Amino acid sequence: MRRIAVLTSGGDAPGMNAAVRAATRTAVGRGVEVIGVRRGYAGLIEGDFVGLTARDVAGIIEFGGTILESDRCLEFKTPEGRARAAAHLDRAAVQGLIVIGGDGSQAGALVLSNEGFAVNGVASTIDNDLPGSDVTIGVDTAVNVALEAIDRLRTTASSHRRLFIVEVMGRNCGYLALAAGLAGGAEVIVAPERELSPARVVELLHEARQRGKRHAVVVVAEGARTNGRTLYQHLCDEHAVDFDPRLTILGHIQRGARPSAFDRLLATRLAARAAELLISGEAGLLIGLRNGAATATPLVRVIGQPKPLPAEFLALSESMQL
Ligand code: ADP
Ligand code: F6P
Repeated sequence: MRRIAVLTSGGDAPGMNAAVRAATRTAVGRGVEVIGVRRGYAGLIEGDFVGLTARDVAGIIEFGGTILESDRCLEFKTPEGRARAAAHLDRAAVQGLIVIGGDGSQAGALVLSNEGFAVNGVASTIDNDLPGSDVTIGVDTAVNVALEAIDRLRTTASSHRRLFIVEVMGRNCGYLALAAGLAGGAEVIVAPERELSPARVVELLHEARQRGKRHAVVVVAEGARTNGRTLYQHLCDEHAVDFDPRLTILGHIQRGARPSAFDRLLATRLAARAAELLISGEAGLLIGLRNGAATATPLVRVIGQPKPLPAEFLALSESMQL
């Protein structure tokens, strides 16, 4: 293999730059040229390419976001869109592709792989909804951002005897809510995989009040039916709890942070492995972290599979709420 390309796709995740750097330097170190594709699959379809040398990826490991930029691209889901992408890859003499992104991006990688192109994926999304990686690039940083917010909100909640509802991202996955809620000592955690009706949340808050709690933090996942707005509205309409409620929706604040040491190391390990395997002719793989090791799983065994929340986290979220 003489030349490979790398792109970042879907929602950006802290650590993507470290992954671009590691894929580039691994390839360059093996005498393989690297092309960066700007704006994910949208740039692939438009041939928006830039050469990447080892120097071009210097000084980026510490930054969130992605120097290659990212996008969502409906056209890549069509055979015509992918044919345009394949033509650009062919014209640029690119023989292999590394896709750094989440489950949607890796679904795209699988389609391209099934159409005969050599692609490896690197598991990267703050949502942690991608099977094949116990934890994905960006999760650790995003959880820490949410946690810092929760800690601050708890402080002011305790000064005013208030209830803070904190809504975190995660799309349809409750991992961020569960991890940040557990680490932040939330009184109640609501996730799509652990739905609680607003009425049930009120019951739990009453119980907490009876146990002597004078303030409370409820962490809800954006993808839960009982999301932040729904719960806040219920509490206001029903005057349902003794605590004075406030709502904070963290939103994209969770996305742009400087990557933690964990995410930089994870990204470096996974992307280096993805490039090594691609260059040695092993493709159609998702590289993720499994049992502490950078592990390749065929994309076909990953896409469309469920990723349950860790049972231990779920059990702890119950037992810690005393
Ligand atoms: P993430 O990778 O963070 O989960 P998305 O779900 O938005 O982000 O997916 C990113 C992009 O991946 C989509 O905009 C689209 O271009 C591509 N993609 C998603 N699913 C498919 C699919 N089934 N076939 C081809 N491309 C896909
Ligand atoms: O997939 C990452 C993510 O941040 C989700 O948690 C969230 O639902 C979504 O992207 C937001 O997408 P956008 O940046 O397009 O608003």
